[in-house]
Amino acid sequence: MKRIVSMAVIAVLLLSGENTSAQQTSAGNARMKTFIDALMKKMTLEEKLGQLNLPGSGDIVTGQAQSSDIGKKIREGKVGGLFNIKSVAKIREVQKVAVEESRLKIPLVFGMDVIHGYETVFPIPLGLSCTWDMDLVENSARIAAVEASADGINWTFSPMVDICRDARWGRIAEGNGEDPYLGSQIAQSMVRGYQGNDLSKNNTIMACVKHYAMYGAAEAGRDYNTTDMSHQRMYNDYLPPYKAAAAAGAGSFMASFNEVDGVPVTASKWLMTDVLRKQWGFKGFVVTDYTGINEMVAHGIGDLQTVSARALVAGIDMDMVGEGLLTTLPKSLKEGKVTLAQIETACRRILEAKYKLGLFEDPYRYCDENRAKTELFTAKHRAIARNTAAQSFVLLRNQGDILPLKKTGTIALVGPLADNKENMPGTWSVAANFQQATSVLAGMKEVLGDKAKIIYAKGSNLDADAAFEERAGMFGKSLGRDNRPAAVIIKEAVDAANQADVVVAALGESAEMSGESSSRSNIEIPQVQKDLLDALLKTGKPVVLVLFTGRPLAIKEENEKVPAILNVWFGGSEAGYAIADVLFGDVNPSGKLTTTWPQNVGQVPLYYAHKNTGRPLEEGKWFSKFRSNYLDVSNDPVYPFGYGLSYTRFSYSDITLSHTALKGNQKLTAAVTVTNTGKYDGKEVVQLYIRDVVGSVTRPVKELKGFQKIALKAGESKTVTFTITPEDLKFYNYDLKYDWEGGAFTIMIGGNSQAVKSASVNWTK
Ligand code: BGC
Repeated sequence: MKRIVSMAVIAVLLLSGENTSAQQTSAGNARMKTFIDALMKKMTLEEKLGQLNLPGSGDIVTGQAQSSDIGKKIREGKVGGLFNIKSVAKIREVQKVAVEESRLKIPLVFGMDVIHGYETVFPIPLGLSCTWDMDLVENSARIAAVEASADGINWTFSPMVDICRDARWGRIAEGNGEDPYLGSQIAQSMVRGYQGNDLSKNNTIMACVKHYAMYGAAEAGRDYNTTDMSHQRMYNDYLPPYKAAAAAGAGSFMASFNEVDGVPVTASKWLMTDVLRKQWGFKGFVVTDYTGINEMVAHGIGDLQTVSARALVAGIDMDMVGEGLLTTLPKSLKEGKVTLAQIETACRRILEAKYKLGLFEDPYRYCDENRAKTELFTAKHRAIARNTAAQSFVLLRNQGDILPLKKTGTIALVGPLADNKENMPGTWSVAANFQQATSVLAGMKEVLGDKAKIIYAKGSNLDADAAFEERAGMFGKSLGRDNRPAAVIIKEAVDAANQADVVVAALGESAEMSGESSSRSNIEIPQVQKDLLDALLKTGKPVVLVLFTGRPLAIKEENEKVPAILNVWFGGSEAGYAIADVLFGDVNPSGKLTTTWPQNVGQVPLYYAHKNTGRPLEEGKWFSKFRSNYLDVSNDPVYPFGYGLSYTRFSYSDITLSHTALKGNQKLTAAVTVTNTGKYDGKEVVQLYIRDVVGSVTRPVKELKGFQKIALKAGESKTVTFTITPEDLKFYNYDLKYDWEGGAFTIMIGGNSQAVKSASVNWTK
């Protein structure tokens, strides 16, 4: 055991003769309690508050931690942890200050936004969710944890599980789409991937579920904006993924920036204590988002002292960056606005997290330089990331089976995203080394070898407006502006197209057109790129649009005129290879959308699990006076939730039900036979939806209740069976009681939320 805590504490540990990293068994919990009791007895008020403090680390330069301002604070016991520091060397250096130079030698926790991979970058979460493959999702988090922990990190600000039904919101890229059922499965897979079954292992890291809660429902899709919705909608649609992540044992939660019910979440006792801890039994700690406490001054609920006290009382345990807790709680304690018990509870929760991570036993547990040298960006991790990226792509259109392309002839590769590495990892890739990423051009060259010729031309800038392009190219992700007139740049691409057999156009959004503070009021492809696309189509050559985006885009026009569209999100460090793998048919695409794609921004929010209303549109019509519709556009999406094509075709049989009438806790099985009727082996996501036809409150027209991803060889059939129990029929009713109600149900199974076979059952209680 390293000498990291005071002698008295060590004595307690030695007397009990155990291992400080014991897991959450009750004996382990008792030992943890004994350890922390002894430690807390020695702590001053200032040191207790220090544990609640997560300052911004600034740019810690190796060799300077000792002399830095942060170093001074750590030495004084005023820091609980740091975040977004990259490298074992830097982390070891600051940890050394904590465990050798502070009075109680309490180790720091090191966090980072490891959102979709570390140096090996996986697709952005919205893309990853389109794999509908929980093993791939879990494994991506596992690999992220292995790499991050090899580089000194033991806490990640992920998974982000905010349900979002508004494509304007930039942070839709960071989540898993619009559906609470799928979102919950993914939330649990991510937590398992990060944390494994033993947090004290040196290759597992603590998850932080964010942004709790309802952050994805910001009004008008404008980031940080107010959210306001009924409690029924919260409980049925928005809270389930957070709850699922808590049930999976996530070690920490992050409070969101937005307000809910008129209270900034950071001060919401209802969310942080009543729901999270009392209703869901969460035992970990809650951290604010970046300056979340201080921002409550601007929200207008008081000065820094007031809002800091409110945050603590509500259930916040750690203060990210703002230092409101550290600097104002002593005064609030004196004035009786907070109690010592409240401060100690928060402090204990942070110490417990450190204990579970095994940091008291070995503060350098995650600081193994050898691991840092050998476990990052490995060939094995990259191969998995490449395959995962390919699985996340969604084939939106493939008229005339243009795809897959042949590995022969001449290919014109054009577009502002065709020859760029920096944008491939996508938003929130803090640890990525952009130079290690692979562009589409490089990926295609690698996959084609000398079998086919590629002619590259940029074809257009990202956007005609240079200032917009700059905002959309932050954090070193510039697309390199071409200052020649647009017509000249387009002409080059048209010349390339004219010499080619086929055109691949890599267009869409840049990585930073989605993500934090990247909301858009226009969710179309920028006009200058549309002009390029039109010019390419005019050549008469077959055009394949490789579409980059971090959100659902409004591409009604492109869907009508471009024969093939492969949506590739931001696929991560291996994106270029994965795109080539799919374009040339080495991988058959199988991704399915986890968001609805609208025809235009005016339809937003648009989602499949909507209510019927009292005036639904009649079947087969797109407009009818005095019905719920628009004068100028139908209610349909361009692509529905769950949609995605394959190079092969799948056909579905009718549904076979085990019963048409059931009672109480009986089980229903619903089966379909799926046949691969095309020429290629492929994978299909078979989706189960249920409609509760009559309820005590209105119910959605359908809700996802199950899915299975199956592989079928060309010509092969498989029967897919879903077992349905009353558990699948439950919902939160008007009194927020979670229960099911007897009556008629429609069972629907299909390859997307619209193309379904249906059958009816009557199920009484
Ligand atoms: C974001 C969080 C992130 C945090 C730390 C905030 O601005 O909202 O998602 O974890 O910064 O980087």
